[in-house]
Amino acid sequence: MGIKIIKTGKALPEYILTNRELEELVDTDNDWIVERTGISNRRVAIKESNLDLSLKAAEMCLKGYDRSKVDLVIVSTITPDKLVPCMGSLLKRDLNLENAIAFDLNAACSGFIYGVWTAEALMKVNNFRSALVIGSECLTRITNWEDRGTCVLFGDGAGCALLERDDNETGIISSFIKNYDDPKEVLACGMEYRKRPFDSEDFSYQPMLIEMAGTQVFKFAVNAINEVMDNAIKDTGLTYEDIAFFVPHQANMRIINAASQKTGQDITKFQVSIKDTGNVSSASVPMALHDLMVSGKVKKGDKIMLMGFGGGLSAGAIIYQV
Ligand SMILES: CC(C)(COP(=O)(O)OP(=O)(O)OC[C@H]1O[C@@H](n2cnc3c(N)ncnc32)[C@H](O)[C@@H]1OP(=O)(O)O)[C@@H](O)C(=O)NCCC(=O)NCCS
Repeated sequence: MGIKIIKTGKALPEYILTNRELEELVDTDNDWIVERTGISNRRVAIKESNLDLSLKAAEMCLKGYDRSKVDLVIVSTITPDKLVPCMGSLLKRDLNLENAIAFDLNAACSGFIYGVWTAEALMKVNNFRSALVIGSECLTRITNWEDRGTCVLFGDGAGCALLERDDNETGIISSFIKNYDDPKEVLACGMEYRKRPFDSEDFSYQPMLIEMAGTQVFKFAVNAINEVMDNAIKDTGLTYEDIAFFVPHQANMRIINAASQKTGQDITKFQVSIKDTGNVSSASVPMALHDLMVSGKVKKGDKIMLMGFGGGLSAGAIIYQV
C-alpha cells in the first residue's frame, strides 16, 4: 500500500517587505542580504491570521475533492493563532471535515517533514483514506525587529499537501528523521508566561522572540541536510541521479548550494523559492513543493526528495514518487 502526495497548495499574505524597507529598520543593506542569504523580499501577515493562510492553502488542495475522505489533519506550526483550540481543530471546523482527526505538531522548520512522516504512519496503521498536512507560519510575530542577524531572514505563509492512500501505487518510498541535541540552544524562542503570585522576585521572563546563533545554526544545517539525505536514500536502491527534484527547506541559498555540491547534483534540480519568501519555517518546504508542482517540470513517476532542518535541533528527508 502506498501513501501518495496527490495535491499541493500555498498561500502568502498580501504585504511584501523588501530588503530596502529593512534598511530603514536596522543597520543592514540589500546587497549583504542578497549575497549572504539569497533573500530579496518576504511576506508579512498584517491583515491575515495563521488560520486565514492555512485555510487558503488547504482549500487549494481540496478543490473538487470529496472532503468526507479526509480522515486526518496535521498542522505544523510554531506560531499558532491560539494554543487552544489548536490550529488543526480550527481548520477541521472551517473546512467542514467531519471525519478528520486533527492536531498540531511542533518540530520547528522540519515540521512539514515530521508531519508527512507522522501522517504516513497513521494512515497505514488506521487505514485512513486521506490526510492534509499543513505547514503554516506567521513568523514575523516572533521576530525581533531590532536584531539584524535574524529579522532579515523570516517571513509568513502557508503550504499544504493532500496525501491519499493508494493500494496500487508506490507514493512515499523512504523517510529518515533525526533529532540532534541543542545544549546551547543556538536556535530558540521563549514563551511569554506571566509571573504568578507565587513566583519569586527573580522570576525570569522569557520574551517570545526568535534568538539564533547564525553561524552555528548554519554549520548544523549544512551537515544535517546531507546526513538525512544520505540516510533517506541509503536502502532504497536509488542514487541521487534517480531523484528528479530536491525540495529543501528555504533557510539560506548557501545551504541549498552546499547540498547541491555535496551530492554532486546540479542546482537546477533543487527547488529555490527563497528569494521572495525568506525562511517561513515549517511552511517553506510545502510552499516550495507547490512552486515546483505548478512549474510544469514534474512528470508522473518522477521521484522527489523533501528535506527539512531546524530548531530542536531537528532534521528529516522524504523520498516519494509522483
Ligand atoms: C544568519 C546568517 C545569514 C548570517 O550569515 P553569516 O555569514 O553566518 O554571517 P555572520 O553571522 O558570520 O556575520 C558576518 C557579519 O555580518 C554582520 N551581519 C549580520 N547580519 C547582518 C545584516 N542583516 N546586515 C549586515 N550585516 C550583518 C555580522 O554582525 C557580522 O559582522 P562582524 O563580522 O562585524 O561581527 C547565516 O549564519 C545563516 O543563514 N545561518 C543559518 C540560518 C538558518 O538556517 N536558520 C534557520 C534554521 S531553520
